[in-house]
Amino acid sequence: MDRQSILSEIEHLRGEIRRHNDLYYKHASPVISDQEYDALERKLRDLEARYPELAGAGSPTLQVGSDQDARFPSLPHSRPMLSLANSYDPQDVEDFVQRTRRDLGVEEVEFTVEPKIDGVALALRYRGGRLDTALTRGDGRKGDVITANIRTMAGLPFELEADWAQVFPAPPPQAFEVRGEAYLSLSRFRQLNRMRAAEGLEPLANPRNATAGTLKTLDARAVARRGLSAFFYQLFPLPAEGDQARDHDTHEQELQAIADLGLPCNPFLRKAGSVAGIMTHLETLQEMRDGLDYQIDGAVIKVNRRDLQEKLGTTAKSPRWALAFKYPAAEAVTRLRDITMQVGRTGVITPVAELEPVALAGSIVSRATLHNWDEMTRKDIRIGDMVVVVKGGDIIPKVLRVLVDKRQGTERPLPPPSHCPVCGAPVAAGSDQVALRCTNSLCPAVLAGRLRHFAGRDAADIDGLGGKWVETFLEMGLVQTPADLFELDKQQLAVLPGWGEKSAERLLAGLDKARERPWSARIFSLGIPQVGITTARTLASRFGSIDDLMNAGTEDLAALPDIGPVVAEAIVGYWQDPEAARLIQRLKEHGYFHASEELEDAGAGPSAGPLAGKTVVLTGTLETMTRSRAGELVAAAGGKLTSSVSRKTDFVVAGGKPGSKLARARQLGVEVLDEEAFLALVKGGAGAGHEAG
Ligand code: IVH
Repeated sequence: MDRQSILSEIEHLRGEIRRHNDLYYKHASPVISDQEYDALERKLRDLEARYPELAGAGSPTLQVGSDQDARFPSLPHSRPMLSLANSYDPQDVEDFVQRTRRDLGVEEVEFTVEPKIDGVALALRYRGGRLDTALTRGDGRKGDVITANIRTMAGLPFELEADWAQVFPAPPPQAFEVRGEAYLSLSRFRQLNRMRAAEGLEPLANPRNATAGTLKTLDARAVARRGLSAFFYQLFPLPAEGDQARDHDTHEQELQAIADLGLPCNPFLRKAGSVAGIMTHLETLQEMRDGLDYQIDGAVIKVNRRDLQEKLGTTAKSPRWALAFKYPAAEAVTRLRDITMQVGRTGVITPVAELEPVALAGSIVSRATLHNWDEMTRKDIRIGDMVVVVKGGDIIPKVLRVLVDKRQGTERPLPPPSHCPVCGAPVAAGSDQVALRCTNSLCPAVLAGRLRHFAGRDAADIDGLGGKWVETFLEMGLVQTPADLFELDKQQLAVLPGWGEKSAERLLAGLDKARERPWSARIFSLGIPQVGITTARTLASRFGSIDDLMNAGTEDLAALPDIGPVVAEAIVGYWQDPEAARLIQRLKEHGYFHASEELEDAGAGPSAGPLAGKTVVLTGTLETMTRSRAGELVAAAGGKLTSSVSRKTDFVVAGGKPGSKLARARQLGVEVLDEEAFLALVKGGAGAGHEAG
């Protein structure tokens, strides 16, 4: 590889890792498994080690991912809140032990092994025996202040027992910090999902994401209702001037002290002095894993003595005295009943495994992606096979491998299609030579995919075009491209089966509002290959109109943060497609693109929303949403939720039985909205919401 391609590979990996960090830490909705994430990071680390001149200070290999959230104030951490070095391989454990002994210059080192809780990191400060501040990890240097939410967590003492100071080596500190992991127990998780199902609500995807979403809601009572738990594993004094307080001598004593303080700590701590001893504990914990009422994603091996921990120190990202040994993702065996084909908006045909339903990591799985025919052939996957499915980090399940010795001879492979399963047009290899693609740009599946993308929440967000209507419009020949939507008229719509004047008006109003969507959302709505919402925001921060953007060369584009040569090529290539050019021309004529667009703040989606810079107060009981959901909507639309009404308040949202806040709003002349008006307002630009609270 030449220098340029190495550089672009490094850049690509950094962009990907940052994107996955945001999905995991900020949005609590990862799209790849931990293993896949760790593999990306390892690849980047290797490249940076081989080409140190290309290793930049801003690389995600040197920073922990950030969960910082503008809705919360932040505070610096007393000590950096680091992450852990990961491994999946027993050889790494051996290397870790050898390296530790060598660095310390001793033969005998005592290690501890304990479960690695799959939750969300927390830091609590107690002052004079009372809970004073609770912080999230944030970016590791500064954390978000979530004290109000933590106060409502059952099982966490707000006021410690009278003789709490006794658990510290003398003289005790005035203040101390405990760190650990908040989590949602599996029994509580299942119970919540049963309750949600009864109320017709979407189930929570998995306990970890639900925990992250809960800690970041703006309604402390909603946190109390969720029923989170925690385990703590770190304790240290926060020394005041002249304070002689010191750490406990060992990690074991540290955990004992946490328990003595009345704080929850995990009971499964073991000690070992050898690799073999450590491996035994790792295996025992792995065997226990399925019987626990909380998710663990591995075990943590630590040097027991804290003076030795101190001596070993840390890297920019993780302590040298600890190693996380991660367990492989949960697996299940089931029968592959059929393979169906999905045609996406880019025409790519993806094989999908239809499975006999099987329980896997807390949910029932009946479909899994097979990615592409190359992979299917490589794994020799056939219809009727018994297969192993995995769910890395509880996301989209995958078929890992076939149990070949279970074959009965009746299984049959599905050859790659020569024709599109939807429209029958010939199939061609995609630009990457792996994907298969329908060659018909008018394929109904492609058109439907594009229209659905265009109308989606992060894009034009067209109210009234949900569900099956896209297909119906296509079948009736009413529309083919997004531009056609703007030519629909009321008479035409009102006579559709199941429609009337009201629904017709709703769709037309939705189309009107689409013209006022943030510039980045309208760029995103085009569905340019490789351009997700983040890249669209970068483009919207740099180019003042669609013409400017279309005139940009690959070099101009590749010079922008997080846009590499591949993405730049894809963007420039897109404009060259005559169909895309026609679409954009028509969208301009319909007032969807303007001669001059408002430049956006890169990365700061919310500041561009319909409530940008506005302050909102809620009062009374909301009918259609929880308060925390309302808070999320406000934040996603760029606004801020506060608790009391003043002259600075922009809107008061009044539900049923509003209290004195409504009276105060009327007195001060602050605009009062009912729920419906509020929803209409935030829908004007609410980005992808976080996990509902
Ligand atoms: S010790 C310097 N012990 O895993 C970090 N961490 O992937 C010291 N975690 O950031 C952390 N269980 O949030 C430690 N028993 C345990 C843990 C644990 C879960 C989390 C923690 C850490 C993350 C790293």
